[in-house]
Amino acid sequence: MSRMAGRVAVVTGAARGMGRSHCVRLAEEGADVVAIDLMSAADDLADTAAAVERTGRRCLVGTADIRDLDELSGVVASGMDRFGRIDAVVANAGVYPTAASTWELDIDTWRDVLGVNLTGAWHTVKACVPMMSPGGAVVLIGSTNAIKGASGVAHYCASKHGVIGLAQTLANEMGAQGIRVNTVNPGSVGTSMILNHNVFARLRPDLEVPSAEDAAQALASRNLLGVPWVEPEDVSNAVVFLLSDDARYITGTNVVVDAGLLAKAS
Ligand SMILES: NC(=O)c1ccc[n+]([C@@H]2O[C@H](COP(=O)([O-])OP(=O)(O)OC[C@H]3O[C@@H](n4cnc5c(N)ncnc54)[C@H](O)[C@@H]3O)[C@@H](O)[C@H]2O)c1
Repeated sequence: MSRMAGRVAVVTGAARGMGRSHCVRLAEEGADVVAIDLMSAADDLADTAAAVERTGRRCLVGTADIRDLDELSGVVASGMDRFGRIDAVVANAGVYPTAASTWELDIDTWRDVLGVNLTGAWHTVKACVPMMSPGGAVVLIGSTNAIKGASGVAHYCASKHGVIGLAQTLANEMGAQGIRVNTVNPGSVGTSMILNHNVFARLRPDLEVPSAEDAAQALASRNLLGVPWVEPEDVSNAVVFLLSDDARYITGTNVVVDAGLLAKAS
């Protein structure tokens, strides 16, 4: 398939997890990629670039903290210099913080989470949208926590609910220019964001040292389809669809990829 042939995509949080998967799926569909992540993730970012290049497409890597608008804009400008256009943007970088009750969260963690997940997404569209070609499309990565609350993660839920507000506003502003804006909202996805011992302990407070299998049982029980999590590629497939002309009249929507987590009757 070559649904993104001749197009250029910018992806944040591209060094690993879903960001890498979005880059590779977009390249498999014919896009050249500007892959952005933190300097501390430079080695993983190089692996993403190699994976994109194995598909036959080009990849420009850039290191930036998306909380820093100047740094991010510099990388986006390098992408324009190299490829001459931007057709697709995926605001994917995010953090999933340590949990605490809403009234017990500390101010630094609150600022970090809102700074990356919400202000960083705004920086991403602010840096990219003025350079986008007509007919382009933006996807902001939310979460099922962008649609429904959850105990212990007020900072994450608030930031991701904000992403939906940002996307729906931008969709209104860009429609006349033929630029579409949507969100993709994953449930649990098999990346290091949730496959770690902190999250296992949160999921299984009844066990002293819960294993991945213990956590998987807890997660699977939440989903209609019985799997504990979806794979990064499942989310990337929705991202590619929304960025492609297959979705040419879809804007301002919130697509959920969650194995039935939100739909499950309690
Ligand atoms: N994994 C899940 O279960 C899940 C579920 C719902 C939503 N999400 C969302 O999907 C997106 C991708 O998550 P993932 O699971 O691939 O996570 P991940 O932790 O595997 O990858 C996140 C990437 O973002 C980068 N990043 C973090 N802060 C950054 C910053 N300030 N500037 C630039 N890059 C930064 C990291 O270096 C990393 O490469 C995030 O927005 C996350 O909130 C994840």
